[in-house]
Amino acid sequence: MKIYFFYKNNIFGIHSELSNTKLKLMKKLRFGSLLLLMICPYLINAQTTRTTHILENNWKFSKGNFENAEQVDFDDSAWETVSVPHDWAIYGPFDKEVDKQVVAISQNNEQEASEKTGRTGALPHIGDGWYRTSFQLPELAAGSRVLVVFEGAMSDPEVFVNGEKAGEWGYGYAYFNLDITDFVASGESNLLAVHLSPKPLSSRWYPGAGLFRKVRVLVLPEHHFQLWGTFVTTPFVTDSLAKINIKTKVEGQNLRLETAIKDTDGNVLATETATALFGKEFEQNIALENPKLWSPESPALYYAESKLYDESGQLQDEQTTRFGVRTISYQAGEGFKLNGEVRKFKGVCLHHDLGPLGAAVNKAALRRQIQLMKDMGANAIRSAHNMPSIEQLELCDEMGMLFLAESFDEWKRPKVKNGYNRFFDEYHEKDLVNLVRATRNHPCIVMWSSGNEVPDQHGSEGVKRAKSLQDIFHREDPTRPVTVGMDQVKAVMASGFGAIVDVPGLNYRTHLYEEAFERFPQGLLLGSETASTVSSRGIYKFPVEQAVGKMYDDGQCSSYDLEYCNWSNLPDDDAVLQDDKDWVIGEFVWTGFDYLGEPTPYDQYWPSRSSYFGICDLAGLPKDRYYWYKSRWDTDESTLHVLPHWNWEGKEGDTIPVFVYSSYSSAELFVNGKSLGVRTKSKDSKLERYRLMWNDVVYEPGELKVVAFNEKGEPAEEKIIRTAGAPHRLVLEPDRSTIQADGKDISFVTVSVVDKNGNPCPTATNQLSFEVSGAGEYRAACNGDATSLELFHKPTMKLFSGQLVVLVQSNERAGDIELSVAGKGLKRAKIKISSVE
Ligand code: GAL
Repeated sequence: MKIYFFYKNNIFGIHSELSNTKLKLMKKLRFGSLLLLMICPYLINAQTTRTTHILENNWKFSKGNFENAEQVDFDDSAWETVSVPHDWAIYGPFDKEVDKQVVAISQNNEQEASEKTGRTGALPHIGDGWYRTSFQLPELAAGSRVLVVFEGAMSDPEVFVNGEKAGEWGYGYAYFNLDITDFVASGESNLLAVHLSPKPLSSRWYPGAGLFRKVRVLVLPEHHFQLWGTFVTTPFVTDSLAKINIKTKVEGQNLRLETAIKDTDGNVLATETATALFGKEFEQNIALENPKLWSPESPALYYAESKLYDESGQLQDEQTTRFGVRTISYQAGEGFKLNGEVRKFKGVCLHHDLGPLGAAVNKAALRRQIQLMKDMGANAIRSAHNMPSIEQLELCDEMGMLFLAESFDEWKRPKVKNGYNRFFDEYHEKDLVNLVRATRNHPCIVMWSSGNEVPDQHGSEGVKRAKSLQDIFHREDPTRPVTVGMDQVKAVMASGFGAIVDVPGLNYRTHLYEEAFERFPQGLLLGSETASTVSSRGIYKFPVEQAVGKMYDDGQCSSYDLEYCNWSNLPDDDAVLQDDKDWVIGEFVWTGFDYLGEPTPYDQYWPSRSSYFGICDLAGLPKDRYYWYKSRWDTDESTLHVLPHWNWEGKEGDTIPVFVYSSYSSAELFVNGKSLGVRTKSKDSKLERYRLMWNDVVYEPGELKVVAFNEKGEPAEEKIIRTAGAPHRLVLEPDRSTIQADGKDISFVTVSVVDKNGNPCPTATNQLSFEVSGAGEYRAACNGDATSLELFHKPTMKLFSGQLVVLVQSNERAGDIELSVAGKGLKRAKIKISSVE
């Protein structure tokens, strides 16, 4: 594999297909001496196989449309220099005019149009944008092909190489590649220019804008492995033996394929050589003894290292495919089985934005999301409502998280004027093929989704569409079933739509589960989307009551977790079905984290620009609901969580209900030492089945204590909350105190304020400011307040309910990073984070 480094314009990143030793060497060289690189015979004389160049740094970017911006001699010196992944809209400002719409949202059961703001995050994502970068190519050997691969480009990308249009695509979330061989100059610097033009009325949430996912250039030798042309499956698995089936598509004839199966330490476990080419495909079956099975609890991975030789024994191409050994099945009467064991999906839906980072992919942010969900006991993620980033799948493979990979929020019939309906006819097959081929080797993916609440659920056309989309998935991947998130349950029962879907997925409509199960032939049902309960972290409203679409003057929702929408329900409604019906194979809660846009129930209220549905807020800080789910889902750790906070100045003598979310089934509550009695979970009422509730607590400042009892009735754990005094001191807690010096890694530092006795101040709203020095930089802050118009990238923000999160990013230099946080009347707090190579 040949490696090229060019310091002309773009410094190429190196693809992970390299061995660790080579990678370490490369890294040293990259930061070391270019001279050493030039004289290193190992590199210069490496075989002529593929090269991969990740185009990351030194892009020039400008918003707006420009004549001749695709031309080589266009002067972009005044443009901003950015790195990709990049989201141009996240820097704001928030402005209600950006996405003001007068619409009736039919998915929300609205009949009449009204003015909506913040639906797509009120950030400036609409309009034109241009990106330009140069990449140096080596002298191309005869027959080489050059591809440019985009893992998403928001949206309507037009791609130019050296001034010529090389191709275009539609959907911003789609992976696509273009063969640019005819446009490039061998051995020279080449200009890549990309024009994007996100449209108004194209999304129901914040889509982001720009080259928000990875871009790379691949130089392939004449005889090569096709991009996304390898498919590894494990059709036979026992404890002692697994059959690894590998189908490998290549270009060229009279070739020999050698494959080695390796473990993560690099040990070769099995090898196999194939010479018979069927059309363009090799097929190998390799025996792997004593396979370690992939599961959320034990995410074992393997590598298939493939080498392609020509007749003379010359190495032509090489690639490494990571995979897992596991079996899945979905059967009536059994449900979903992973490696032969029944399990339910304890899943969350996630939109693609990463809060303060916008849509720009960042692995540290994704890792933190997955870790938070795993700590809650979740075992699955649904990529609502589009193709996931490759980085998210890589992490789910590594960390052990099942994945439901979705494709579309619309088919041919629109939800929003400029949604996927614009692309459906021309692109749906290409988009699905690329989705499946690019991601099918990820063991985490256990189901595909062809759509979410598509209006095509109505009418016979829609049934045909559902079938033809599902057929594409089956053709490309016979190993995984397909679902559709269906909300028009009566319609899909009547039309046959629901009956043809491999795994019928119901969005909400808990009252129709039984009927759908009876009517559909599959014998199982998935809660493809559940709950949509709304809350704002640390905010509690009185009186405490179950309510639909409830709004308050401050634009917040109550964290007693009793408020939802006219189409949705309480977590407790779903839990009853999940717990009592074997044929319900699990759920995907809407949503694991708050996201930008869709500020229901405040679509008509300003300012409000992000969702309230999250189990965690936009900053990733857990809301109370996190512990509600944890108490049910996390079977490893006990949960004992008390709400609300105990700072109710002015409400002395008022009733402040207290709820406890716990894995224990019984607990006693004390206010300032006085018992308010024992509560025990009871199946007699839906709420009491999952929550311990003291509804008549009279507020007096001081100490709220809950003591939980084990099955023998003995005190097992206790939790105390105290009324806090005035904010006194800041507390900084990083999620990771050592990060990588790669210019991308991020430490997420939770900042909270405590009184002089160390009690958290749950209502503090102090304005704070941030400074980062040393080997890193301030990246952003977020406080989880959906009504805040403070910009994430400015180094100042207010606490919301006593907390916020600061994102500190490494640069490419190892060393210490210092974050210093100040607030009026508070002692400045500092923390050190190490950045290492
Ligand atoms: C669902 C929809 C989601 C989101 C959610 C809010 O119907 O599929 O995208 O809009 O409602 O409750």
